[in-house]
This record gives sequence, structure tokens and C-alpha cells, in this order.
Amino acid sequence: MSKLGAVLISREEISGMVGRLAGQINEDYRGKEILLVGVLKGAMIFLADLCRAIEAPVTLDFIIVSSYGVETNTSGVVLLRKDIDGDIENKHVVIVEDIIDTGVTLNYLKEMFIKRNPASLKVCAAFDKPTRRTVDISPDYYGVRIPDVFVVGYGLDFANMYRNLPDLCILED
Ligand code: IMP
Ligand code: MG
Repeated sequence: MSKLGAVLISREEISGMVGRLAGQINEDYRGKEILLVGVLKGAMIFLADLCRAIEAPVTLDFIIVSSYGVETNTSGVVLLRKDIDGDIENKHVVIVEDIIDTGVTLNYLKEMFIKRNPASLKVCAAFDKPTRRTVDISPDYYGVRIPDVFVVGYGLDFANMYRNLPDLCILED
């Protein structure tokens, strides 16, 4: 049985992290329009916070992928469950992810989007677990690097639970 453990990143730290990331994006995209693509469901809370702190004109789109069953380990196979609605050609696209773990999902999304000829393509992840990588890939913007622990809250789930926790917490097994 898994149970909720300690707070790893508090809501105050998360708020500071969002402000810092939006500041970087505001600087990098001055005078440009940004298409933020949220990777559902995990990124929904981060995206909601991030998009409200961005000053550039923003449009939103969403994609649904899954690589996990109800376990805490990735299956290594990414399933595209829902594609974005719009065209990304000649647009400045920023993929917004909750967390980069093995890198398999991010690699899949970048390869898929780059073929559609965006003006630019970057990735912004709230959290990053660099020691878990199986694919050599990194987000362009990341909030906080965390160790190899399974975390829930701030949009991240275990079996679709705990997404609404305001802090990022460790899930103990
Ligand atoms: P990757 O393809 O292994 O990089 O996995 C990325 C996806 O796995 C993320 O978008 C999350 O949805 C999920 N994931 C990875 N680590 C965690 C975690 O610690 N808690 C909850 N979900 C996670
Ligand atoms: Mg996800």
C-alpha cells in the first residue's frame, strides 16, 4: 500500500518557481506570441499558474499522452490519446509538462511536433528528475530538480489521485 509522505516542494516554493520561469519566458519571447501546449492531465495546474504569469500574448492547446498504467514506473511506450486541436506551423510553441522522468514522453512529443514545422519549439517542465533519464534530453526551462522519488500533488498523480494537493509530496510505498 502506498501512502502520502512528506512535503518535498512547498506551495510557497512552487509559487516562486512559477514566477521565475515566467520571468525567463517573458524575457525570451518579448514581442512574440506563444502557443502553450499543456500535456494533460499532469500539467494542468502548472499551466494554469504559468500562463497567468506570462505577459506575451498566449494561446492554449492541449494534448493527452499516457505512458503509465497505475504503477509508479513508466511502461516505456507513449500512447497519444488526444492530439492538439490546432496547427503549429510557424508558431512559437512551448510544451508545458509536469515532470520529466525517463525523458521518453518528452522525446516522443518533440519528435512529433518538430515535423510540423513550428517557428520554434521549447519545453517547460515544473519538475525534473535528471538521474532517471534513459533518453538524453532536457527541458529548456525547468522549475526544480528533484531526486529519484515518486511525487504527487500540484497536478501529479498516483492512479489519478492526489492531483489537487497544493504541495509536491513524496508518495511512500
Ligand atoms: P517520462 O516519459 O518517463 O519522462 O515520464 C513523464 C511522465 O511520467 C510525466 O509527465 C508524469 O505524468 C509521469 N511521472 C513521472 N514521474 C512521476 C512522479 O514522480 N509522479 C507522478 N507522475 C510522474
Ligand atoms: Mg504527464
